[in-house]
Amino acid sequence: MTAVTDPVPTYPMARGCPFDPPAELAGIREESAGVTRVRIWDGSTPWLVTRYDDVRAALADPRLSADADRDGYPAASRARRARSAGRRRSFIMMDDPEHARYRRMLVGEFTVRRIERLRPLVERTVTELLDAMAAGENPTDLVQAFALPLPSLVICHLLGVPYADHAFFEGRSRVLVDLTSGEQAAAAASDELQDYLAGLVRVRRAAPRDDLLGALADRVGAGELTEDEASASALLLLVAGHETTANMIALGTLTLLHRPDQLGVVRDGDDAQVRAAVEELLRVLTVTHTGRRRVATEDLELGGVTIRAGEGVVLAAETANRDPRQWEHPDEVDVARGTNRHVAFGFGVHQCLGQPLARLELQIAHPALLRRFPDLRVTVPDSQIAFRDEMAVYGVHALPVAF
Ligand code: HEM
Repeated sequence: MTAVTDPVPTYPMARGCPFDPPAELAGIREESAGVTRVRIWDGSTPWLVTRYDDVRAALADPRLSADADRDGYPAASRARRARSAGRRRSFIMMDDPEHARYRRMLVGEFTVRRIERLRPLVERTVTELLDAMAAGENPTDLVQAFALPLPSLVICHLLGVPYADHAFFEGRSRVLVDLTSGEQAAAAASDELQDYLAGLVRVRRAAPRDDLLGALADRVGAGELTEDEASASALLLLVAGHETTANMIALGTLTLLHRPDQLGVVRDGDDAQVRAAVEELLRVLTVTHTGRRRVATEDLELGGVTIRAGEGVVLAAETANRDPRQWEHPDEVDVARGTNRHVAFGFGVHQCLGQPLARLELQIAHPALLRRFPDLRVTVPDSQIAFRDEMAVYGVHALPVAF
C-alpha cells in the first residue's frame, strides 16, 4: 500500500540552518505564486503569503483582520486560541477603530524623540551590566548576563514595574511565548501577569507617578479605560518590550561572532554604520518567525490568488525579508547594506509600537558589548546551542560565551 502524503505543507516547518528560515519556505516563495495553503497545528489550512510585496500589501489591507476571536483566524497554537477567547485581549489582536483607540493612548510615549530621551538610561544600564559581567564568572551565559536584563530593566523603568519582580514576569512571559504551552499553563500565566499589573495600576491610582503605568492609571481614573483594559495594554508592553529585543541581542551577537569582518564594522563603526548593521540583523533574523496572523473579512486577491472572506492568512515576514525581488543576495548578512525596508517590525496599523526603543537598545548594546570584550567568543559549537524553535520569538535559550 502506498502512503498517502499530504500535499499541503505543514507550517511552521523545521529549520535546516538555525540562522535561516526553512528552505521549503523559500521554495514556496520562488516556485509557486508565493501564496499557497499550509496546514497548521489544528489541521486547518490558511493561506501562507511569502513574497515581500504581497506581505506588505496584506499588512496594510484593512480587509485582513487581526481579531483573533473571528472564525477562521489562524492562531499560532492551541493555548493562543484559548487565550484570545478570554476577557483581556490587548490591542495587537483588535482592528481599527477599536485598536486605534488603545494605541493612540500610548503612541506619544514611543515617538523617536521621546525614546531618544532614554539614551542616557540605556547607556548607563548597558555599562552597569557589562561591568557586572566583567566582574562575574567567565564563561557565562550572555542571555542571562546581558541580553535579557537590558530590555527587561528598560521596559521596567518605562512602565514603572519593579525590576525586583523580573524572575516572576520573565517566567510568565516565557510561558506565553512558548507555542507548546498547555492551555491551562498559558491561561494561568496570563492571569497572573495581568492581576499583577492591575495591582500596580491600582497602586498608581492611589499614589500617582510619572511612568506608563501612571499614565494608564490616569486613564482609568478619567473613565477612559477599565482596569482590565489598562492592564492588558501594560501586559502587551511588558512582554513585547523584553522578549523580542533580548532575542535580537543574543542571536544578533551569535550571528556577528560567526562573521568577524561584519563584527568589526559593528564594533568599530560610526553611528550610521551601526544603525545600518542593526537593520540588517533585524532583517535576516526576523525573530518573530511564525508569521503575522490575519483573517479575511472580505474576498480579496493576493499574489494572483483569491482569498475568500473567513479564510485565514499567515504573512511570512521571515521569508518576505529574504525576497530576492527586494534585496540582492538576500540570504547573506551584509551589515553595510543601504536602504533596508524590512518588515521585521511588521507594517501597517499594527507596525511595532516599540520599534524606536528596540532600535535604541540594539544600537547601543551591540557595539558596547563588542568593544568591552574584544575577545568575546562562543564556547560551544552551534549544534550544542538551544535555539528557540518552539517559541513565538526566535533566538537562543542560552548563549555560553567566554571573554
Ligand atoms: C527587536 C525587537 C522587536 C521586534 C522584532 C518586534 C516585532 C513586532 C512585530 C512584527 C509587530 C507587529 C505584529 C503584527 O502585525 O501582528 C509588533 C507589534 C508590537 N510591538 Fe514590537 N517588536 C520589538 C520590540 C518591541 C518593544 C521594545 C516594544 C515595547 C516597548 C514592542 C511593543 C509592540 C506593541 C505594543 C505592538 C502592537 C502594535 C499594534 O498592534 O498596534 N515591541 N512588534
